[in-house]
Amino acid sequence: MNRLISPNFQDIFEPNIEVGTFPDGDTHVRIPGITKYENRSVTLFHRLYPNQNSSLIELVFLLDALRSVGAKVTVVAPYLPYARQDKARLEGEVISAEVICNLIAEAGCDSLITFDCHFLKKEGEKVYGKLKIINISMSGELMAYARQICDGEECEAVAPDQGASYLVEKEGGKAMKKTRRDYKEGKISYRDVEDMKMNFEVKGKNIIILDDMISTGSTMIKAIEVMKKAGAKKVFCAATHGFFLHNSLEKLEALADGVFVTDTIISPVSKVGMAVKCKAL
Ligand code: R5P
Repeated sequence: MNRLISPNFQDIFEPNIEVGTFPDGDTHVRIPGITKYENRSVTLFHRLYPNQNSSLIELVFLLDALRSVGAKVTVVAPYLPYARQDKARLEGEVISAEVICNLIAEAGCDSLITFDCHFLKKEGEKVYGKLKIINISMSGELMAYARQICDGEECEAVAPDQGASYLVEKEGGKAMKKTRRDYKEGKISYRDVEDMKMNFEVKGKNIIILDDMISTGSTMIKAIEVMKKAGAKKVFCAATHGFFLHNSLEKLEALADGVFVTDTIISPVSKVGMAVKCKAL
């Protein structure tokens, strides 16, 4: 098995490639003993967050080096950056998800394995732009952890919006309906959450709200408030990817009975590991 491990994957595997920077900030990568991968299949483990832009350049350089020896490369990138920009809403906006996927494919990636890719909204294989993507879900592992901390009590899964409904499908979970406000004048990079509605009962129940990501936390904060107001007993919130921007972890911990994510992005509440899945690849 030919595994190449980036230093940013050292929590799971021993790194065997070098990734660094020159004094001026330019990226430098090196694959020691690269000739042994000549015309072989290789699995390259490399996180693309944090520092998504430089991590992507690192990936492109690594892919180019491997292409030069004819390797067939499967990339394992647990979180795919730019995956939320798969639509152009405003004139002149770039569909950056497609640009990034094409860049990765053109650099020499045969297929990319990722977890809960935002724009795919289901598990399985899909060609997006020029890139073959295999999307794996961490929802089963997140639900198993939720059950553990619920101490044997029933716990129902809820998705905070339609896009996340595939995460709770196997559990027979329901999805809320989320609406966002328009872009604000002079601030086009984020649309505030306007409202979240649900047409199901949560009174007296333990609820786990499951999403693909917690970014600014606005979605989860609103969802928890709605659940509590509707009389839910305990409310946990969980996601595959935890960014926890703008102190949102503190805010969520103050509101919810538990907050946890996986280690696709390492955070203080990365309670659910992806190691078993990675080791099976
Ligand atoms: C949106 O469709 C996503 O699935 C997440 O719900 C969203 O990106 C989370 O972002 P935030 O934490 O900023 O509300």
